[in-house]
Amino acid sequence: MKIVEVGPRDGLQNEAAAVKVDAKVRLIEDLVEAGVRHVECGSFVSPKWVPQMADTISVFAQVRRVAGVSYSALVPNLTGLAEAVRCGVEEVAVFASASETFSRRNINCSIDDSLERLRAVTAEARTRGMRVRGYVSCVLGCPYEGEISLAAVLRVASALAEMGCYEVSLGDTIGVGTPGKAQTMARAVAKEVPVQQLAVHFHDTWGQALANILASLDAGIEAIDSSVAGLGGCPYAKGASGNVATEDVVYMLDGLGMETGIDLEKLAAAGRHIMHVLGRPSASKAALALAALKEK
Ligand code: HMG
Ligand code: MG
Repeated sequence: MKIVEVGPRDGLQNEAAAVKVDAKVRLIEDLVEAGVRHVECGSFVSPKWVPQMADTISVFAQVRRVAGVSYSALVPNLTGLAEAVRCGVEEVAVFASASETFSRRNINCSIDDSLERLRAVTAEARTRGMRVRGYVSCVLGCPYEGEISLAAVLRVASALAEMGCYEVSLGDTIGVGTPGKAQTMARAVAKEVPVQQLAVHFHDTWGQALANILASLDAGIEAIDSSVAGLGGCPYAKGASGNVATEDVVYMLDGLGMETGIDLEKLAAAGRHIMHVLGRPSASKAALALAALKEK
Protein backbone atom coordinates (compact mmCIF):
# COMPACT_ATOMS: atom_id res chain seq x y z
CA MET A 1 0.00 0.00 0.00
CA LYS A 2 1.18 3.49 -0.82
CA ILE A 3 0.93 6.02 1.98
CA VAL A 4 1.22 9.69 1.08
CA GLU A 5 2.10 11.62 4.23
CA VAL A 6 0.52 15.07 4.03
CA GLY A 7 1.13 16.17 7.63
CA PRO A 8 3.85 18.75 6.90
CA ARG A 9 1.49 20.46 4.40
CA ASP A 10 -2.18 19.69 5.07
CA GLY A 11 -1.42 19.02 8.71
CA LEU A 12 0.43 22.21 9.48
CA GLN A 13 -1.20 24.69 7.08
CA ASN A 14 -4.06 25.33 9.49
CA GLU A 15 -1.91 25.98 12.57
CA ALA A 16 -2.50 29.54 13.77
CA ALA A 17 0.91 29.99 15.44
CA ALA A 18 3.96 29.93 13.17
CA VAL A 19 5.76 26.59 13.33
CA LYS A 20 9.53 27.04 12.99
CA VAL A 21 11.31 25.77 9.88
CA ASP A 22 13.55 23.54 12.05
CA ALA A 23 10.48 21.77 13.46
CA LYS A 24 9.02 21.24 9.97
CA VAL A 25 12.33 19.86 8.69
CA ARG A 26 12.68 17.57 11.71
CA LEU A 27 9.13 16.29 11.15
CA ILE A 28 9.85 15.43 7.50
CA GLU A 29 13.16 13.75 8.34
CA ASP A 30 11.59 11.77 11.20
CA LEU A 31 8.83 10.56 8.86
CA VAL A 32 11.34 9.41 6.27
CA GLU A 33 13.37 7.71 8.99
CA ALA A 34 10.18 5.82 9.91
CA GLY A 35 9.93 4.50 6.33
CA VAL A 36 7.56 7.01 4.73
CA ARG A 37 8.38 7.27 1.01
CA HIS A 38 6.01 10.03 -0.11
CA VAL A 39 5.93 13.28 1.86
CA GLU A 40 4.08 16.45 0.91
CA CYS A 41 6.44 18.92 2.52
CA GLY A 42 4.63 22.24 2.07
CA SER A 43 2.95 24.49 -0.45
CA PHE A 44 3.89 27.36 -2.72
CA VAL A 45 0.65 29.29 -2.37
CA SER A 46 0.03 32.96 -1.63
CA PRO A 47 1.43 33.76 1.83
CA LYS A 48 -1.51 36.15 2.26
CA TRP A 49 -3.87 33.19 1.94
CA VAL A 50 -1.91 30.62 3.98
CA PRO A 51 0.77 32.35 6.08
CA GLN A 52 1.92 29.10 7.71
CA MET A 53 3.31 27.83 4.39
CA ALA A 54 5.28 31.03 3.63
CA ASP A 55 8.57 29.37 4.60
CA THR A 56 8.28 26.32 2.33
CA ILE A 57 11.34 27.54 0.38
CA SER A 58 13.42 27.31 3.58
CA VAL A 59 12.00 23.89 4.39
CA PHE A 60 13.14 22.54 1.02
CA ALA A 61 16.52 24.26 1.39
CA GLN A 62 17.16 22.58 4.74
CA VAL A 63 15.63 19.14 4.50
CA ARG A 64 18.11 16.32 3.95
CA ARG A 65 16.77 14.40 0.96
CA VAL A 66 17.06 10.62 0.89
CA ALA A 67 17.20 8.81 -2.46
CA GLY A 68 13.98 7.02 -3.38
CA VAL A 69 11.76 9.36 -1.36
CA SER A 70 9.35 11.76 -3.05
CA TYR A 71 9.38 15.19 -1.38
CA SER A 72 6.45 16.98 -3.01
CA ALA A 73 4.83 20.39 -2.76
CA LEU A 74 1.35 21.73 -3.41
CA VAL A 75 1.15 24.45 -6.09
CA PRO A 76 -1.92 26.42 -7.23
CA ASN A 77 -0.54 28.16 -10.32
CA LEU A 78 2.54 28.87 -12.45
CA THR A 79 3.95 31.24 -9.79
CA GLY A 80 3.95 28.37 -7.30
CA LEU A 81 5.41 26.00 -9.85
CA ALA A 82 8.29 28.40 -10.53
CA GLU A 83 9.08 28.41 -6.79
CA ALA A 84 8.98 24.61 -6.74
CA VAL A 85 11.39 24.46 -9.67
CA ARG A 86 13.77 26.87 -7.90
CA CYS A 87 13.69 24.57 -4.85
CA GLY A 88 14.57 21.48 -6.89
CA VAL A 89 11.20 19.85 -6.21
CA GLU A 90 10.62 16.80 -8.40
CA GLU A 91 6.92 16.26 -7.71
CA VAL A 92 4.11 18.79 -7.34
CA ALA A 93 0.46 18.45 -6.43
CA VAL A 94 -2.23 20.58 -8.03
CA PHE A 95 -5.71 20.95 -6.60
CA ALA A 96 -9.22 21.62 -7.88
CA SER A 97 -12.62 21.27 -6.28
CA ALA A 98 -15.83 19.46 -7.16
CA SER A 99 -17.69 22.34 -5.48
CA GLU A 100 -18.00 25.68 -7.28
CA THR A 101 -18.28 27.69 -4.04
CA PHE A 102 -15.35 25.95 -2.37
CA SER A 103 -13.25 26.60 -5.48
CA ARG A 104 -13.94 30.33 -5.25
CA ARG A 105 -13.27 30.46 -1.51
CA ASN A 106 -10.10 28.37 -1.66
CA ILE A 107 -8.43 29.60 -4.83
CA ASN A 108 -10.51 32.61 -5.87
CA CYS A 109 -11.73 31.24 -9.20
CA SER A 110 -14.34 28.97 -10.78
CA ILE A 111 -13.80 25.24 -11.34
CA ASP A 112 -13.43 25.76 -15.09
CA ASP A 113 -10.89 28.55 -14.66
CA SER A 114 -8.95 26.45 -12.15
CA LEU A 115 -8.81 23.49 -14.55
CA GLU A 116 -7.53 25.74 -17.32
CA ARG A 117 -4.88 27.13 -14.96
CA LEU A 118 -3.89 23.64 -13.83
CA ARG A 119 -3.63 22.42 -17.41
CA ALA A 120 -0.88 25.01 -17.94
CA VAL A 121 0.81 24.12 -14.64
CA THR A 122 0.73 20.39 -15.39
CA ALA A 123 2.02 20.81 -18.94
CA GLU A 124 4.90 23.03 -17.78
CA ALA A 125 5.79 20.71 -14.90
CA ARG A 126 5.80 17.65 -17.15
CA THR A 127 7.95 19.42 -19.72
CA ARG A 128 10.45 19.86 -16.91
CA GLY A 129 10.28 16.15 -16.09
CA MET A 130 8.33 16.65 -12.85
CA ARG A 131 5.61 14.29 -11.65
CA VAL A 132 2.21 15.84 -11.04
CA ARG A 133 -0.42 14.62 -8.63
CA GLY A 134 -3.96 16.05 -8.60
CA TYR A 135 -6.48 16.57 -5.81
CA VAL A 136 -10.23 16.80 -6.09
CA SER A 137 -11.67 18.50 -3.00
CA CYS A 138 -15.17 18.16 -1.57
CA VAL A 139 -15.82 14.75 -3.17
CA LEU A 140 -18.31 13.78 -0.45
CA GLY A 141 -19.63 17.19 0.57
CA CYS A 142 -18.87 20.88 0.70
CA PRO A 143 -18.84 23.23 3.71
CA TYR A 144 -20.82 25.79 1.67
CA GLU A 145 -22.99 23.76 -0.73
CA GLY A 146 -23.63 20.55 1.24
CA GLU A 147 -24.16 17.56 -1.08
CA ILE A 148 -21.94 17.38 -4.15
CA SER A 149 -23.03 15.37 -7.18
CA LEU A 150 -21.03 12.39 -8.40
CA ALA A 151 -21.08 13.99 -11.85
CA ALA A 152 -19.17 16.99 -10.50
CA VAL A 153 -16.56 14.71 -8.91
CA LEU A 154 -16.18 12.65 -12.10
CA ARG A 155 -15.75 15.74 -14.24
CA VAL A 156 -12.88 17.14 -12.17
CA ALA A 157 -11.18 13.77 -11.53
CA SER A 158 -11.26 12.94 -15.25
CA ALA A 159 -9.95 16.38 -16.18
CA LEU A 160 -6.98 16.02 -13.80
CA ALA A 161 -6.12 12.55 -15.14
CA GLU A 162 -6.54 13.70 -18.72
CA MET A 163 -4.20 16.67 -18.25
CA GLY A 164 -1.45 14.33 -17.06
CA CYS A 165 -1.73 13.83 -13.29
CA TYR A 166 -0.20 10.41 -12.62
CA GLU A 167 -2.42 10.06 -9.56
CA VAL A 168 -5.71 11.67 -8.57
CA SER A 169 -6.45 11.95 -4.87
CA LEU A 170 -10.12 12.09 -3.91
CA GLY A 171 -10.49 14.48 -1.00
CA ASP A 172 -13.23 14.40 1.61
CA THR A 173 -12.15 17.85 2.71
CA ILE A 174 -14.59 18.18 5.61
CA GLY A 175 -14.74 14.51 6.58
CA VAL A 176 -18.50 14.12 6.17
CA GLY A 177 -18.43 10.95 4.08
CA THR A 178 -19.61 7.56 5.29
CA PRO A 179 -18.35 4.18 3.99
CA GLY A 180 -21.21 3.36 1.60
CA LYS A 181 -21.00 6.75 -0.07
CA ALA A 182 -17.19 6.66 -0.11
CA GLN A 183 -17.20 3.27 -1.84
CA THR A 184 -19.85 4.26 -4.37
CA MET A 185 -17.89 7.40 -5.19
CA ALA A 186 -14.56 5.53 -5.51
CA ARG A 187 -16.13 2.83 -7.73
CA ALA A 188 -17.77 5.47 -9.93
CA VAL A 189 -14.51 7.40 -10.39
CA ALA A 190 -12.65 4.14 -11.07
CA LYS A 191 -14.86 3.65 -14.13
CA GLU A 192 -13.41 6.85 -15.61
CA VAL A 193 -9.86 6.86 -14.20
CA PRO A 194 -7.93 3.58 -13.73
CA VAL A 195 -8.15 2.60 -10.07
CA GLN A 196 -4.33 2.23 -9.91
CA GLN A 197 -4.21 5.98 -10.54
CA LEU A 198 -6.52 6.87 -7.64
CA ALA A 199 -5.84 7.74 -4.02
CA VAL A 200 -8.15 8.66 -1.16
CA HIS A 201 -7.76 11.61 1.18
CA PHE A 202 -10.07 11.53 4.18
CA HIS A 203 -10.31 14.13 6.88
CA ASP A 204 -11.63 12.64 10.10
CA THR A 205 -14.08 15.31 11.25
CA TRP A 206 -16.94 12.86 11.82
CA GLY A 207 -14.76 9.91 12.82
CA GLN A 208 -15.44 8.02 9.58
CA ALA A 209 -12.02 8.15 7.95
CA LEU A 210 -10.72 4.65 8.76
CA ALA A 211 -14.05 3.07 7.84
CA ASN A 212 -14.05 5.06 4.61
CA ILE A 213 -10.53 3.86 3.82
CA LEU A 214 -11.53 0.25 4.38
CA ALA A 215 -14.51 0.72 2.08
CA SER A 216 -12.21 2.32 -0.52
CA LEU A 217 -9.81 -0.64 -0.32
CA ASP A 218 -12.74 -2.84 -1.31
CA ALA A 219 -13.17 -0.60 -4.35
CA GLY A 220 -9.56 -1.38 -5.31
CA ILE A 221 -7.83 1.77 -4.04
CA GLU A 222 -4.14 1.23 -3.19
CA ALA A 223 -2.97 4.73 -2.20
CA ILE A 224 -3.94 6.56 0.97
CA ASP A 225 -3.21 10.10 2.13
CA SER A 226 -2.80 10.66 5.86
CA SER A 227 -1.23 12.98 8.43
CA VAL A 228 0.94 11.86 11.29
CA ALA A 229 -0.82 12.42 14.64
CA GLY A 230 -3.97 13.34 12.69
CA LEU A 231 -2.69 16.87 12.15
CA GLY A 232 -4.59 19.07 9.83
CA GLY A 233 -7.50 20.92 8.39
CA CYS A 234 -8.05 23.29 5.53
CA PRO A 235 -8.05 27.01 6.32
CA TYR A 236 -10.87 27.51 3.79
CA ALA A 237 -13.07 24.69 5.08
CA LYS A 238 -14.38 25.90 8.42
CA GLY A 239 -14.83 23.10 10.93
CA ALA A 240 -12.72 20.61 8.95
CA SER A 241 -10.51 18.70 11.34
CA GLY A 242 -7.29 16.85 10.64
CA ASN A 243 -6.59 14.14 8.14
CA VAL A 244 -6.86 10.54 9.20
CA ALA A 245 -3.83 9.79 11.40
CA THR A 246 -1.03 7.92 9.61
CA GLU A 247 -0.39 5.82 12.75
CA ASP A 248 -4.02 4.62 12.72
CA VAL A 249 -3.86 3.76 9.01
CA VAL A 250 -0.56 1.88 9.40
CA TYR A 251 -1.90 -0.03 12.43
CA MET A 252 -5.02 -1.02 10.47
CA LEU A 253 -3.06 -2.05 7.36
CA ASP A 254 -0.54 -4.01 9.48
CA GLY A 255 -3.48 -5.86 10.99
CA LEU A 256 -4.82 -6.63 7.53
CA GLY A 257 -1.41 -7.96 6.50
CA MET A 258 -0.93 -5.12 4.01
CA GLU A 259 2.64 -3.91 3.69
CA THR A 260 3.43 -0.17 3.98
CA GLY A 261 7.16 -0.29 4.76
CA ILE A 262 6.52 2.06 7.71
CA ASP A 263 7.73 1.35 11.25
CA LEU A 264 4.80 2.20 13.53
CA GLU A 265 6.97 2.89 16.62
CA LYS A 266 9.21 5.33 14.75
CA LEU A 267 6.20 6.93 13.10
CA ALA A 268 4.55 7.45 16.48
CA ALA A 269 7.78 9.00 17.77
CA ALA A 270 7.68 11.48 14.85
CA GLY A 271 4.12 12.33 15.82
CA ARG A 272 4.99 12.70 19.51
CA HIS A 273 7.72 15.17 18.71
CA ILE A 274 5.61 17.45 16.50
CA MET A 275 2.75 17.38 19.03
CA HIS A 276 5.23 18.35 21.73
CA VAL A 277 6.20 21.34 19.55
CA LEU A 278 2.52 22.23 19.04
CA GLY A 279 1.77 21.73 22.72
CA ARG A 280 -1.25 19.44 22.47
CA PRO A 281 -2.02 15.72 22.46
CA SER A 282 -2.01 13.57 19.34
CA ALA A 283 -5.28 12.89 17.53
CA SER A 284 -4.08 9.37 16.70
CA LYS A 285 -5.73 6.63 18.73
CA ALA A 286 -2.96 4.18 17.81
CA ALA A 287 -0.28 6.65 18.95
CA LEU A 288 -2.10 7.17 22.27
CA ALA A 289 -2.45 3.39 22.74
CA LEU A 290 1.25 2.87 22.04
CA ALA A 291 2.16 5.62 24.52
CA ALA A 292 -0.07 4.03 27.19
CA LEU A 293 1.62 0.65 26.64
CA LYS A 294 5.02 2.26 27.16
CA GLU A 295 3.89 3.79 30.47
CA LYS A 296 2.87 0.38 31.88
P1 HMG B 1 -5.47 35.56 -5.99
O1 HMG B 1 -5.48 36.63 -4.96
O2 HMG B 1 -6.66 35.41 -6.88
O3 HMG B 1 -4.13 35.56 -6.88
O4 HMG B 1 -5.23 34.18 -5.23
P2 HMG B 1 -3.48 36.56 -7.88
O5 HMG B 1 -2.93 35.72 -8.99
O6 HMG B 1 -4.44 37.69 -8.21
O7 HMG B 1 -2.26 37.15 -7.03
C1 HMG B 1 -2.48 37.94 -5.86
C2 HMG B 1 -1.14 38.06 -5.12
O8 HMG B 1 -0.70 36.77 -4.69
C3 HMG B 1 -0.03 38.63 -5.97
O9 HMG B 1 0.85 39.33 -5.08
C4 HMG B 1 0.68 37.39 -6.47
O10 HMG B 1 2.02 37.61 -6.80
C5 HMG B 1 0.59 36.49 -5.25
P3 HMG B 1 0.74 40.93 -4.86
O11 HMG B 1 0.93 41.51 -6.23
O12 HMG B 1 -0.65 41.14 -4.30
O13 HMG B 1 1.82 41.19 -3.88
N1 HMG B 1 0.66 35.06 -5.60
C6 HMG B 1 1.50 34.18 -5.05
N2 HMG B 1 2.45 34.31 -4.11
C7 HMG B 1 3.13 33.19 -3.78
N3 HMG B 1 2.90 31.98 -4.33
C8 HMG B 1 1.97 31.82 -5.27
C9 HMG B 1 1.22 32.95 -5.66
N4 HMG B 1 0.23 33.13 -6.55
C10 HMG B 1 -0.10 34.42 -6.51
N5 HMG B 1 1.74 30.62 -5.79
C11 HMG B 1 -4.28 31.98 -5.21
C12 HMG B 1 -5.16 32.97 -5.95
C13 HMG B 1 -4.50 30.63 -5.87
C14 HMG B 1 -2.83 32.39 -5.34
C15 HMG B 1 -4.71 31.96 -3.72
O14 HMG B 1 -6.09 31.82 -3.65
C16 HMG B 1 -4.04 30.87 -2.93
O15 HMG B 1 -2.84 30.88 -2.72
N6 HMG B 1 -4.84 29.88 -2.45
C17 HMG B 1 -4.30 28.74 -1.75
C18 HMG B 1 -5.27 28.29 -0.71
C19 HMG B 1 -4.71 27.05 -0.04
O16 HMG B 1 -3.53 26.81 -0.01
N7 HMG B 1 -5.63 26.25 0.53
C20 HMG B 1 -5.25 25.04 1.21
C21 HMG B 1 -4.78 23.96 0.30
S1 HMG B 1 -6.10 23.06 -0.49
C22 HMG B 1 -6.52 21.83 0.66
O17 HMG B 1 -6.09 21.86 1.77
C23 HMG B 1 -7.39 20.67 0.20
C24 HMG B 1 -6.59 19.39 -0.02
O18 HMG B 1 -5.93 18.99 1.17
C25 HMG B 1 -7.51 18.27 -0.48
C26 HMG B 1 -8.74 18.06 0.43
O19 HMG B 1 -8.62 18.02 1.66
O20 HMG B 1 -9.81 17.90 -0.16
C27 HMG B 1 -5.54 19.57 -1.12
MG1 MG C 1 -6.86 17.96 2.82
